Amino acid sequence: MTKIRVKPDRQRYTFDGFGSEAFPNFLLRGAGDLNNWRLGVYVEAHEGYQALRKALQMDPQDVVQEVRSSGLRGRGGAGFLAGLKWSFMPKDTDNQKFVRYLVCNADEGEPGTFKDRVIIEYNPHQLIEGMVIAAWAMQCRKGFIYFRGEFKWLIDKMDAAIQEARDAGYLGNNILGSGLDFDLDTYRGAGAYVCGEETALLNSLEGRRGEPRVKPPFPAAKGAYGQPTNVNNVETLANVPAIMRLGAQAYAAIGSKNNTGTRLFGISGHVRNPGMYEMPMGTPLRYLVETVGGGTSSGLPIKAVIPGGISAPVLKPEDLDTPMDFDAMIAKGSMAGSGGAIVLDKSACMVQAALRAARFYAHESCGQCTPCREGCHWVKMILSRIEYGKGRKGDLELLENIVSKINMRTLCPLGDAACGLLESIIKKFRSEFEAHIEQGKCPVAGESLLVRH
Ligand SMILES: Cc1cc2nc3c(=O)[nH]c(=O)nc-3n(C[C@H](O)[C@H](O)[C@H](O)COP(=O)(O)O)c2cc1C
Repeated sequence: MTKIRVKPDRQRYTFDGFGSEAFPNFLLRGAGDLNNWRLGVYVEAHEGYQALRKALQMDPQDVVQEVRSSGLRGRGGAGFLAGLKWSFMPKDTDNQKFVRYLVCNADEGEPGTFKDRVIIEYNPHQLIEGMVIAAWAMQCRKGFIYFRGEFKWLIDKMDAAIQEARDAGYLGNNILGSGLDFDLDTYRGAGAYVCGEETALLNSLEGRRGEPRVKPPFPAAKGAYGQPTNVNNVETLANVPAIMRLGAQAYAAIGSKNNTGTRLFGISGHVRNPGMYEMPMGTPLRYLVETVGGGTSSGLPIKAVIPGGISAPVLKPEDLDTPMDFDAMIAKGSMAGSGGAIVLDKSACMVQAALRAARFYAHESCGQCTPCREGCHWVKMILSRIEYGKGRKGDLELLENIVSKINMRTLCPLGDAACGLLESIIKKFRSEFEAHIEQGKCPVAGESLLVRH
């Protein structure tokens, strides 16, 4: 297990050598070493670009099949099978007909999520190598890495790594004599959560307003600039060299059933050891929170865990034995999402937690769909009055009604994400909301909300 600790400024990481090599370690290899991002280190210490050499000897469709057989699921949140998505790209080899694009989603806007930035900061060549392999498999000629606006320091590093790869012949024309022409560029968004949604991202990439598009057509049919496009998350693409190096079977042997490989798990909130950890898929949430995360920093019992970024419905302590994989979390009524677990101890006010999330969604709704634009705003307003001791009888029913009008009624899943956490918090911690409304007091803090306000 490799651990990266996040310093309080949330922009830099320190590596403290926690743990051992007992767990496979693909994504954070060498992390913590400030020179690890350099091409020379990647090639000499980490078998860098060997997987690309192997892939270029294979037929592109065989590479797609290898990724399919590995069982790799997208790490952007939904867990869609990567190889299956690659197979949706047109197989027509006539490059005059269209340009196929490969887009890497490095927007990483979900609160509680801070994994892709670690890969890019310490292992940018692993992402580049994964992208060139993907480009060969899908015969893409141009790739973009879409960053959210705040990631300026990462973009500079990525640009430098891309230049190193170009100079060494891993990008550009006729890569390693294979006949593949593929180059990469970085793109800096303006910093909007919705631009992580793949079609809003494509609009933003084209210089348009970052609003989701109606699907279908899906990007594989009509994506960037109207051309066939594959969009994958950073962590998904960074796994590809490991699959090619180990072989699909060996890769698939890691993790849990239908959830293969390792995953970067972020642990934050009220824990002793907040940080970024690489662990096999399906590691139980309890192990992540109590053993790896060290339990709560206050010593108080755990009250709730939001397991996969704030889009994921909340879990209670009795759910902690659930494996952190896509299927087990869905079966528990939540989501593994982006793998970022937020831990709340007994001192947390769940109304306040719901309000914090609601403020985020109301701010980030792009405004295109009425249910999301209006609904998220009103959820925030109603939760504010409950939190500040001015809640009214019937407010909980009103919130539930609004949620039912947003859910599944928007173009993109941002509206659904806003509802998932709220619905689950109200359901599992209803008495806290009722106490706020009836007594004008927070039952956790024990203080008058009107005074606090
Ligand atoms: C509001 C919203 C925000 C999203 N943000 C991200 C993000 O920051 N990074 C990401 O990879 N996927 C994000 N997604 C998911 C993408 O739409 C897309 O499914 C993903 O990039 C596909 O990559 P994958 O198949 O490798 O997981 C977001 C989705 C929604 C609805």
